[in-house]
Amino acid sequence: MLIRPRRLRLNSQIRALTAETRLNPSMLVYPIFIREGKNIVEEISAMPGQFRYSPDEKLCYALEKVVNNKISSVLFFGIPDEDKKDEIASPAWDENGVVQQAIRLAKKNFPELNIIADVCMCEYTNHGHCGMVNEKSGVIENDVSLNILERIAISQVQAGADIVAPSAMLDGQVQAIRNALDNENFYDALIFSYAVKYASSFYGPFREAAGSAPSFGDRKSYQMNPRNVREAVKEALTDIDEGADMIILKPALSYLDVIKTVHEKILNPVAAYSVSGEYSMIKAAAQKGWLNETQIISEMAIATARAGADILITYYANELANLMNTGNL
Ligand code: PBG
Repeated sequence: MLIRPRRLRLNSQIRALTAETRLNPSMLVYPIFIREGKNIVEEISAMPGQFRYSPDEKLCYALEKVVNNKISSVLFFGIPDEDKKDEIASPAWDENGVVQQAIRLAKKNFPELNIIADVCMCEYTNHGHCGMVNEKSGVIENDVSLNILERIAISQVQAGADIVAPSAMLDGQVQAIRNALDNENFYDALIFSYAVKYASSFYGPFREAAGSAPSFGDRKSYQMNPRNVREAVKEALTDIDEGADMIILKPALSYLDVIKTVHEKILNPVAAYSVSGEYSMIKAAAQKGWLNETQIISEMAIATARAGADILITYYANELANLMNTGNL
């Protein structure tokens, strides 16, 4: 036999030498939930091991761990008090809003960490939708919502966010935000657009975590149809034309073909977001002893990177970084 593929699998040193996919903690983004209040670390029941933090020392402890693990970036989601929510998501662009407080605190204490802020309305509206709702028809109104997304993004960058991540899946949101930021001379603020966001049941635990489930209907009129992949390329290209610097695709695990296709078609960095439902599935199976958590999260991270993701957004960022830093991934 002239060709023996098994020679390249002979031992761990040879496997390491010939690995096609290599991972590094700098490619990781850790999503963090910040809720109003003081001195709070509250476990999210559908996501054991993930917490809601108040914007004070409690958040700083979590950030310190992230920085020590050499993770480059965090993604902030805000959870305002229930009674502050309204039709127009006012707590989202309040300069003393929960995310704005968290950004200022994080930037002051960890200037080297990239702070990414999610730009959306659903956590801040009383109806739980990502845009304004037409009272008569119940339709999510696109164009009138853009102005609100602009305000949210500006307030986050004013507070010190390096990167804004619009996730409302409204048409024209990237262009609107880019223009608004440029008008305020925020030329260097990056836009990390959730260009390809499917209408997915994998977001279930997130909606429990952030209290952002829609009070009526679903998100299928703005988030993408899971049956489509060419449309994902269109969404990505459109956002890049509108000024997106990097794009996000989500969920990750069930959409590896989409990651691969989009990565081949665009020249900007592509991030895959392994969403809450992916985390909770693994956690639940691991807690029952049905899966080996460490091995499963490693394999999933490798698969996502192999499909073409340059950046991984994951609730397992700390665990993955640990494995990478100790030479185990
Ligand atoms: C806000 C937003 C959602 C997620 C990220 N940004 C929820 C949704 O669209 O319902 C989901 C992330 C996750 O499930 O981990 N629009």
